[in-house]
Amino acid sequence: MTEASQYSDTIIIAGRFTTFVQPGVAIMIQNVNGTDHIALRQPASAEMFDRAGSDYRCRGAQLLDSASSVLDVSPEEMARTIAEAELESGKHPAHWDSSTCEFLILRLLRKEHGEIEREIRGLPTLAAALAERNESRPELTTISQLVEELTEELTVHIKEEEKNVFPVLLDVELAYLGELTASGIPKGVASILKKMSEDHRALGRTLGRLRHESNWFHSPIEADGKCEELYDRLALLYGAIHYDVHVEDDILFPRVAQMEAALLH
Ligand SMILES: [Fe+2]
Ligand SMILES: [Fe+2]
Repeated sequence: MTEASQYSDTIIIAGRFTTFVQPGVAIMIQNVNGTDHIALRQPASAEMFDRAGSDYRCRGAQLLDSASSVLDVSPEEMARTIAEAELESGKHPAHWDSSTCEFLILRLLRKEHGEIEREIRGLPTLAAALAERNESRPELTTISQLVEELTEELTVHIKEEEKNVFPVLLDVELAYLGELTASGIPKGVASILKKMSEDHRALGRTLGRLRHESNWFHSPIEADGKCEELYDRLALLYGAIHYDVHVEDDILFPRVAQMEAALLH
């Protein structure tokens, strides 16, 4: 069966080439967009970029052609993999442009924050037990220390966002929509956003070290079931944090900053 007959009807356009996916799923990848835009529109692609070791956030985003050459995969293959991941995941392309901050925050709370909290639960204990049991593998001791560090950083950061930051961002949106709350237009929004983005960079540094020590979360061949579980959970945690930071830094925070600027002028 040819590729065109196997994947009929809907077209993916990735730069200068065209390929096909199954009917009913409208996906478009344009090579004028970077991997950051692709990850936003097609959430399943973020998981693929993570697995391949490509940073898709605004800071690290690349055009699909560049990403594919770094990853040593043809752009056609990459587009096909993204399309297949999309179909398999059952996730629909995201339409962030029309989302309110309220929706974005609710989504972050329910999805990424929920996943992060679930994954960090018990992770330091598991990592410490494995480090103790495998003294001949020093990387497990480093991983355990980094997991401890990351868990502390995440716990503080998430608590801060949920208790103090998100309510302020919601107030900015309400004020922007002409529904001022009793406290009026929130103050110090720029410094709140700056602090959160600085936290993200610090988290990124810890995650980068963890990624390096764990060989991109690939467990060694001789790893037992528990060790594999640790590496798998680290990969899931990495994906959830990465997407959380992506949505906040690249969509939510800039949108709130724009609203605040409009309110002040
Ligand atoms: Fe967050
Ligand atoms: Fe955050």
